Amino acid sequence: MEKTIDESKQGEALVLDQKKENSRKLFIESYGCSMNFSDSEIVASILHNQGYNTTQNLEDADLVLVNTCSIRDKAELTIRKRLEKYNAVKRINPGMKVGVLGCMAERLKSKFLEEEKIVDLVVGPDAYKDLPNLLAEVDEGRDAINVILSKDETYGDISPVRLNSNGVSAFVSITRGCDNMCTFCVVPFTRGRERSREPQSILEEIQDLWSRGFKEITLLGQNVDSYLWYGGGLKKDFEKATDMQVATAVNFAKLLELCAKAYPKMRIRFSTSNPQDLTLDVIETMAKYKNICNHIHLPVQSGSNRILKAMNRLHTREEYFELIDNIRRILPDCSISQDMITGFPTETEQDHQDTLSLMDYVKYNFGYMFYYSERPGTLAERKMEDDIPLEIKKKRLDDVVQLQRKHSEFRTKAYVNTEVEVLIERSSKKSDQHWSGRTSQNIVAVFPKADFKVGDFVTVKINDCTSATLIGEGIALSNL
Ligand code: SAH
Ligand code: F3S
Repeated sequence: MEKTIDESKQGEALVLDQKKENSRKLFIESYGCSMNFSDSEIVASILHNQGYNTTQNLEDADLVLVNTCSIRDKAELTIRKRLEKYNAVKRINPGMKVGVLGCMAERLKSKFLEEEKIVDLVVGPDAYKDLPNLLAEVDEGRDAINVILSKDETYGDISPVRLNSNGVSAFVSITRGCDNMCTFCVVPFTRGRERSREPQSILEEIQDLWSRGFKEITLLGQNVDSYLWYGGGLKKDFEKATDMQVATAVNFAKLLELCAKAYPKMRIRFSTSNPQDLTLDVIETMAKYKNICNHIHLPVQSGSNRILKAMNRLHTREEYFELIDNIRRILPDCSISQDMITGFPTETEQDHQDTLSLMDYVKYNFGYMFYYSERPGTLAERKMEDDIPLEIKKKRLDDVVQLQRKHSEFRTKAYVNTEVEVLIERSSKKSDQHWSGRTSQNIVAVFPKADFKVGDFVTVKINDCTSATLIGEGIALSNL
């Protein structure tokens, strides 16, 4: 299965694929997690073969698709607002069809067609291959829906069309669904049971990206460390696998190694890691290969053992510290980031203090922080009262955000007066005289453009920083 690459094949990046013979226009936008952005590239590829090219202009579209997120109430409200905007455009362009994809489609199913008159098409995350049939129904004037979840769909055979790409970094999906059943989370309901994609098709997608000039990939899954290929099928059915399947199974550490070895000049990232599944062999594999980036996104959600248990997170605060200590020991230069939820049902002031003290122990490089939003159908919604008042949820969120800012500043300052390797992705948003890119640790760095170009790996001397950004000057091209 291991592959080597022919570097001479690497050409210029094709940022947007368009087919000349395609006459219909697709406007597709995505909300929520990286997986949704990656799924939209699969959808664009399927529709590319159905006569649709993508457009950036909503007013021009024959078909508008919105890939939706259900993770928090606010995310769903944002989509509802967006539908109002589509409605206004449809008044000018009555032929335009509107479809809803993703987690909200899966959660609300046919209710969507009843509640939102503008919607013609509802498609869940595992049903995108049915889009040609569904669109044929829509063309005949009927509403169409498919929200069937699958045991084995991984879209491994579809080569995604890269949307809004910088031609440098891309997502590659490796698992779909989630079996973890965190009690607050809607994802297991909207994305179904966990299944992994065949390693060979992952390597082929990376080969395709490499040959188009891409320099960095992020292996994506709700819980990447739980990746397990044993010939297809659900993760939970692995117990029924044959001896042969068990002997040849590929776990996440092995997959990471396959990718890192086959593409030594490509940076490899992955997201997201669940602490209960991140094993030492993954950390050791990271240490072994220079091209695997030194960053782990390791959401913990709370620092209180009682709340972790109520959330069905299957580790304690002490076990999490042990994991952090192991990361620091094996990968001293690794950045660690978090997701945190404040105001989960029954959370006391003491539980909140435990979260703050956990943060003080780890001193994360950065994080994504939220206050608890009750989601219909989850175990927390069915069994627990959403009993923390909104002001307290928000006040605790503010504490967590403030503390994270302090830690981010502490971490970024440590890079001042050091040299880091940056992969240039784009012009800086603040100045077109500067490049913006990221270090291996996933920290943004900006520096004067000089003669460097997008896609270059550059050694950058860091002279200054803000809490989230490193500021420096490019010294020379570096060779990953
Ligand atoms: N494993 C996933 C997690 C998806 S949800 C991944 O790939 O990132 C992303 C984050 O949203 C979670 O880590 C959690 O911090 C937050 N979240 C999920 N459900 C939530 C809820 N009901 N209320 C508030 N935040 C939530
Ligand atoms: Fe959600 Fe927990 Fe899975 S946060 S996506 S159920 S790991």
